[in-house]
Amino acid sequence: MEENIFKETSKTKNLACDFLRKGEIVAIKAETVYGLVCDASNQKSISKIYQIKKRPNFNPLIIHVNSKEMADKIAFFNDDAVKLIKKYWPGPLTLILPKRETKLIHDKATAGLKTVAVRMPKSRIFLEIISLLQKPVAAPSANESGYITSTNAEHVKESFGDNLKIIIDSGKSTLGLESTIIDMTKKPYLIRRLGIITKESILNTLGIHTVLYNTSISSNRPNSPGQLSKHYSPKTPLVLNVIKPKKNEAFLAFGKQLNKNNFTLNLSVDGNLKEAAHNLYDYLRRLDKMEKKRIVVSPIPYQGIGEAINERLKRASKKND
Ligand code: TXA
Ligand code: MG
Repeated sequence: MEENIFKETSKTKNLACDFLRKGEIVAIKAETVYGLVCDASNQKSISKIYQIKKRPNFNPLIIHVNSKEMADKIAFFNDDAVKLIKKYWPGPLTLILPKRETKLIHDKATAGLKTVAVRMPKSRIFLEIISLLQKPVAAPSANESGYITSTNAEHVKESFGDNLKIIIDSGKSTLGLESTIIDMTKKPYLIRRLGIITKESILNTLGIHTVLYNTSISSNRPNSPGQLSKHYSPKTPLVLNVIKPKKNEAFLAFGKQLNKNNFTLNLSVDGNLKEAAHNLYDYLRRLDKMEKKRIVVSPIPYQGIGEAINERLKRASKKND
């Protein structure tokens, strides 16, 4: 296999940018998870992202910007959207907004929808790359569609091998969960994906009656394209809320555990949910490699970001529809 992981330096960032200008895809770190990045106006590179991820073409991509000014070129913001971004941008919040007619975003990136998902990431390298390119970039998470998300450069390499020319290694993503997504195209606004930014925090910012969380897990296309029921899934079957693993099971533990062996990884011995989110995908990938009969998971509290962690695990544990 060709070496395609490069340490983050100004030279490799410029190289990545040259590749983007030529219509190539590069993988870089967001504060949430690693992303596959391309020029959002370039049809060829967008198609390539769908192809290497094996992503259904009805599932639109998030468009990443480095400023409100850039976001204004591609989307219409209402007052509530402005309120949210004042609080959370740059950071792990994606807004679905009405899309402007613009050459900056190819229709393929938004799967032909009249809406666009926009986010300004906090990760320094992401912001630098957008600034070098001086254009918005489209970026899904850097994993094959349906499989566990990548939170470091090695994960990306495991997922795509030689299909990528450049993966920039900037260490492990700090947060470890994808951004929270809120659909602001109609009221009541709908949280479509939970993340580190919780439902409570958004409710506090916008007022209690404006936000609902869509808990329905649908395997159909309609109102929430990417939210297919089975997602984030290891190849090994996953079973939730298990206190004590059996001999042929790998164990994803949480909190104080008596069970300590080579097939146990503990998300957070201290029961810290932020730490658990940071470790979640890496540990799932590692347990998957152990090729045990099942991966069983400790109960994880539903408070705060525990809700997002449980939601991811629930999808990961779904059997094929
Ligand atoms: O943290 C993140 O959000 C990462 C990093 C790389 O920024 N990106 C990410 O992208 O998680 P992805 O493609 O794995 O998830 C994007 C989700 C999908 O579920 C997709 O259906 C939804 O956003 N989405 C994108 N545009 C949409 C739109 N216009 N309407 C509804 N959902 C949309
Ligand atoms: Mg994803």
